[in-house]
Amino acid sequence: MKIAVLYGGVSAEREVSLSTGKQIIAALESKGHEVIGIDFHPSRLQELLELKADVVFLGLHGKYGEDGRLQGLLDMMNIPYVGSGALASGIAMDKAKSKQFFKDAGITIAKEKVLYRKSYSEDQVDLSFDFPVVVKPNREGSTIGLTIAQNKDEMLKGITEAFLHDDTILVEQFVSGKEVTVAVMGEHGEMQALPVVEIVPKNAYYDYESKYAEGGSIHYVPARVDDQITALLQKNAVLAHEVLGCEVYSRVDFIVPHDGSEPVILEVNTLPGMTPTSLFPDAAKEVGLDYPSMIEKLIELSLK
Ligand code: DAL
Ligand code: MG
Repeated sequence: MKIAVLYGGVSAEREVSLSTGKQIIAALESKGHEVIGIDFHPSRLQELLELKADVVFLGLHGKYGEDGRLQGLLDMMNIPYVGSGALASGIAMDKAKSKQFFKDAGITIAKEKVLYRKSYSEDQVDLSFDFPVVVKPNREGSTIGLTIAQNKDEMLKGITEAFLHDDTILVEQFVSGKEVTVAVMGEHGEMQALPVVEIVPKNAYYDYESKYAEGGSIHYVPARVDDQITALLQKNAVLAHEVLGCEVYSRVDFIVPHDGSEPVILEVNTLPGMTPTSLFPDAAKEVGLDYPSMIEKLIELSLK
């Protein structure tokens, strides 16, 4: 097959995407495909059109790659691509909006306050929950711009930092627990949750360094949680994927609270990292799919 792999791009997750793209290109080449890698930005659109690739694999993350805008463009140009469509990608990228969908579906979410740059003032931030809190940009990935704040001062600094990355930000109640993630893949209506992956970061939480530095975290597959929790995580991962209208694959992040309460959903990632330290490939490996076979499978599912 002739496959265009778009990677790199212009988002804050560019470096992650360079790594994702490199891995995907190598995997597809090892399977004998004709692969054209494009470090993608709008001025390379014409090139993409002229390629007449059988399919586009999106190795992009974040703004202009994962957020639905590019998916909409590809739809308009009738170019098939891997993964979720424009609307689902846009909603999944928006943490505040997607949390409304999760809540309506009965999935436990962290308490939150949404702040908008236009109306923000420091005295507006009276929370209905206690510290610590997590401050994060609404549409960002890889924990970029995220702060865990133990008190008001730290929170206000975190808010200033988060507003550097987005006009809308979330202040969420910090949930103390195990960080886990569930990879989801399959055909429409028959989505499968892969084994749950538990992450034990070397740093205090699963920050950028723990995510991408070699040895930055240990992954346990399957996660060290009991069968009942595993079943609930897998059920809620598929449900979250479906209520957002996602397709083919995604990775759904949760915290399993230490106090024994229900797992809290964080978000759905529609273009999860595929780097050497990423989680989705680890989950696929556990069900017998090596990296190149996993990438081929995602293409096959997208072209059905
Ligand atoms: N946003 C990063 C790439 C992830 O979720 O894996
Ligand atoms: Mg994310």
